[in-house]
Amino acid sequence: ESMHRELEALLTTANKAEAEITRKDFDGFKKLFHRFLQVKGPAIDWAKINRPPEDLIQPYEKIKAKGLPENIATSLNKLAVVKLNGGLGTSMGCKGPKSLISVRNENTFLDLTVQQIEHLNKTFNADVPLVLMNSFNTDEDTKKILQKYKHHRVNIHTFNQSRYPRINKESLLPIAKNMGMSGENGEAWYPPGHGDIYASFQNSGLLDKLIAEGKEYIFVSNIDNLGATVDLFILHHLMSQPADKRCEFIMEVTDKTRADVKGGTLIQYEDHLRLLEIAQVPKAHVDEFKSVTKFKIFNTNNLWISLPAIKRLHEKNSMDLEIIVNPKTLDGGLNVIQLETAVGAAIKSFDNAMGVNVPRSRFLPVKTTSDLLLVMSNLYSLDAGSLTMSQKREFRTTPHVKLGSSFTKVQEYLTRFENIPDMLELDHLTVSGDVTFGKSVSLKVSAYSDWPEQWCKHLIIHLSI
Ligand code: UTP
Repeated sequence: ESMHRELEALLTTANKAEAEITRKDFDGFKKLFHRFLQVKGPAIDWAKINRPPEDLIQPYEKIKAKGLPENIATSLNKLAVVKLNGGLGTSMGCKGPKSLISVRNENTFLDLTVQQIEHLNKTFNADVPLVLMNSFNTDEDTKKILQKYKHHRVNIHTFNQSRYPRINKESLLPIAKNMGMSGENGEAWYPPGHGDIYASFQNSGLLDKLIAEGKEYIFVSNIDNLGATVDLFILHHLMSQPADKRCEFIMEVTDKTRADVKGGTLIQYEDHLRLLEIAQVPKAHVDEFKSVTKFKIFNTNNLWISLPAIKRLHEKNSMDLEIIVNPKTLDGGLNVIQLETAVGAAIKSFDNAMGVNVPRSRFLPVKTTSDLLLVMSNLYSLDAGSLTMSQKREFRTTPHVKLGSSFTKVQEYLTRFENIPDMLELDHLTVSGDVTFGKSVSLKVSAYSDWPEQWCKHLIIHLSI
């Protein structure tokens, strides 16, 4: 009740234009908060978790083996690409949207995305639009940049995700004093995770617009995943299902390595495929969850979702995504929580949902400057906005790179390399301290002739000053 009163009071401080959007945001938040209050105990009963049946997670090779029809352009015309663009570049020390960070030859994540889709549209004479889900943190800067693509062959749409109030951890009341976002309210609001896509896509009117234009599926992915290109084989698989068995949701998963133990996995739960995130795992089972033998795959967040199905489920209000409670300590030391949801958690609500186990190359996220070093290097070549691993590399795996804290911020990282080193033969690099790299550096382990090859593959280069 008191939360409701506080929210209504805040709403009176909004101007008229803001009011309608804000009303929808508040309705969404109130529903989420209400569900949060009702949740008692863990959402998952560990004993009921089963491994998904084999036919529900198909190997990519099987999907690819079906080949492509000549009229694949017809299927492409029923597709829209959605990039999740609500996040900032703060973890790499950048201000503004993460999608505007340069990742390769002066191209930003957004440039590469636009190039990929433009290439697709030109090659197949198709009209695949790009849709960006922005947040209040990224919308203004992103829109300014979009001018630059005016003459590219790709229609770009944007919509904004919701803006929800952070709540005081003790009192569970909003910390915002009014609707503003500056000064004392600087940290009072947050974008509630990518699970917000379903409601905000519908609320923006863009979902209906795309359906009216004949679009049937969206391909959704994190904008910082450079491996998330439109895959024609998966698209064809979706489009060629019989009408009564229409697959409404595909989650691309990939084999888990020890570096990915925290990623969400797919399980069979009460007759449905379900996404299990580490945050939902009871403490006693966390090690089991992380094991690469029991839970072999993880979610890449590359998702193919039916548009009419989103509309149906949203209207029936039957997509209750598990709530992720994200605790934060603000600059002034105040403890707050923010309630979030994940886009993949909706898999349980869609008909004939399945996973496709894709090659690792479809998961190439850039979360840190160590990832950035890999994608900037000669390990990859760039073609029409897509990065592929160089044929010249002998091992098919990417090296493990761990740059120290002097490299965390992109600006500083850049000053530490005169040139990006040759990394074709690198397996493992750890750097700590005040290290800089000069011109024409090649990072590799030179084997002594009597060393077995196995040893050399696993040698770690450790540079420290
Ligand atoms: P995250 O920062 O959540 O990435 O952003 P993550 O650490 O890989 O975690 P997962 O995927 O949540 O498990 C993933 C993508 O989602 C967008 C970001 O911009 C990024 O592209 N995102 C995240 C939003 O668009 N809105 C949000 O509220 C959160």
